[in-house]
Amino acid sequence: MAAPSMERVVSLCKRRGFIFANSEIYGGIASTWDYGPLGVELKNNVMRAWWSSVVYERDDMEGLDAAILMNRLVWRYSGHEATFSDPLVDCRECKSRQRADHLKDGKCPNCGSSNLTEPRNFNLMFKTTVGPVESEENVAYLRPETAQGIFANFANVQQAMRRKLPFGVAQIGKAFRNEITPGNFTFRTREFEQMEIEYFCKPPKYLQPGEKNDVKLHEEWVEQRFNWYVALGIAPERLRKRAQTPEELAHYAKATVDIEYLFPGSLSWSELEGVANRQDYDLTAHSKEVSDEDLARLRLQKNADSTTKLDYFDDQYVDPETGKKGARYIPYVIEPSAGATRATLAFLCEAYNEELVGEPKEEELAPLRSGLAAARKNIDKKIAEAEKAAAKGELKADMPTVAQLRAINEALASCEAELPQSLLAVEDACDLPGADRVELLKKVRQAAAKLCDEYTRVVLKLHPRLAPIKVAVFPLKKNEPRIVEMAKRIKRDLQPAVRVVYDDSAGIGKLYRRQDEIGTPFCVTVDFQSLEDDTVTVRDRDSMLQERVAISQLESYLTQRLK
Ligand code: GAP
Repeated sequence: MAAPSMERVVSLCKRRGFIFANSEIYGGIASTWDYGPLGVELKNNVMRAWWSSVVYERDDMEGLDAAILMNRLVWRYSGHEATFSDPLVDCRECKSRQRADHLKDGKCPNCGSSNLTEPRNFNLMFKTTVGPVESEENVAYLRPETAQGIFANFANVQQAMRRKLPFGVAQIGKAFRNEITPGNFTFRTREFEQMEIEYFCKPPKYLQPGEKNDVKLHEEWVEQRFNWYVALGIAPERLRKRAQTPEELAHYAKATVDIEYLFPGSLSWSELEGVANRQDYDLTAHSKEVSDEDLARLRLQKNADSTTKLDYFDDQYVDPETGKKGARYIPYVIEPSAGATRATLAFLCEAYNEELVGEPKEEELAPLRSGLAAARKNIDKKIAEAEKAAAKGELKADMPTVAQLRAINEALASCEAELPQSLLAVEDACDLPGADRVELLKKVRQAAAKLCDEYTRVVLKLHPRLAPIKVAVFPLKKNEPRIVEMAKRIKRDLQPAVRVVYDDSAGIGKLYRRQDEIGTPFCVTVDFQSLEDDTVTVRDRDSMLQERVAISQLESYLTQRLK
């Protein structure tokens, strides 16, 4: 199971310190988010896992950290100044601004009107000026992708690290886009973090027998990147590879495969990462002295400003006809480009689970059952009234519609039939449109909340490598100094090998729930038996099973299971 709705993830993120709205004390700023104490740990763990997988666990990769500000000419020759834009239309009816490619059958997705302006292009790059004078010559942009920093450094990395093709460069960093239609929490924001790879390889013409071509390397990267998400806990049925259609492909891309995740709600299947075969477009675009033939092939303008030709001397190449050794050419590139903030959101959605952890007795369920019955009867009455009012044309704007009332009643009926399994769905039914006008649902909500508190849990089943906190240590009794002292010592001994916290601010049951909600894989409890035999209980987040472990073995036990 994954998150039933994005709203549930947003609410958890705020409640438990993962993600906060930016500058909220001043009313916030649209679509800009801050990562709180747990969010920063989670996002850093996602980025660390990516870096480890693409840099440390391979022999053909280097890392880079290029600056956000770059010479404006980078963005001119990359094509971003001229073409990095979304065509937009304004709706004359509801005054909203929409992306032309997001219209529904040529109509405004907000109000359905066809009264729209012609599409106009809007550049997505944030402009700023470098130095004290605000003039056209001093314009710079906040980078809209990290990729260009890698292309501009191709020769530096290749020569400094004496790399031979194929090899790749990985980079993680902030990117900025003045998105027109940001939203869906952190899915599309104006400031975000990317994890990009440019994997340089030989163009087909220069391959030696047995070497992999760009098509094969592209396929391998798609597989590798897909498997990375699965290894970190994304269910394969909620992940798919989607090859871009020829109409979607950028003119320089030979192929692009998007890795998509099935997000909850309206986002549904949406892009997590794009893996593109960009051929020799980018390095050629930034090179001096490119032949007219290559410029025409790639539909590029001559670069009159670059000081360098970003080519590569291949000393292994043997000309099949002449037998001559060595060739100089511009490499091809495969680009797996992922969003760190977007991946973090996907991992959160995937990990979010709501579970029934106990069976309430029939007498405990009684107040909820009678509340549901009363609310349904009341809604039936409202449906009859609304139908009468509609027939007379007297339906008031603030009244729920007949359709809304029927939907609420159906949802309540299925909850009633499936109690207690449906406990967590009661809240959803009470949140349906129009439900706020049904007074009796307040009682239903209260009765359900009480039972949810006791018999359900929210648990983030994050992969241990991603979990913000790995272990929580509790004393069974906080007024028993020997137990407290032992628990604190265990905490001190475990850190810094693992990220561990100590908590004694509530009863054990509540402490477990709190840690489940933030995805802590293990809770260690020190009790009276610990004082006698130097063992503790270790509780597993997912199975909720407990095991006794000797304190002397605790660190190795935990580090083993946290891998
Ligand atoms: N260098 C290629 C490139 O930037 P892209 O498809 O525009 O390609 C790559 O971006 C990834 O960056 C996306 O798959 C997504 O994960 C992330 N991304 C792009 N725009 C974003 C935004 N506004 N907010 C959050 N993540 C974004």
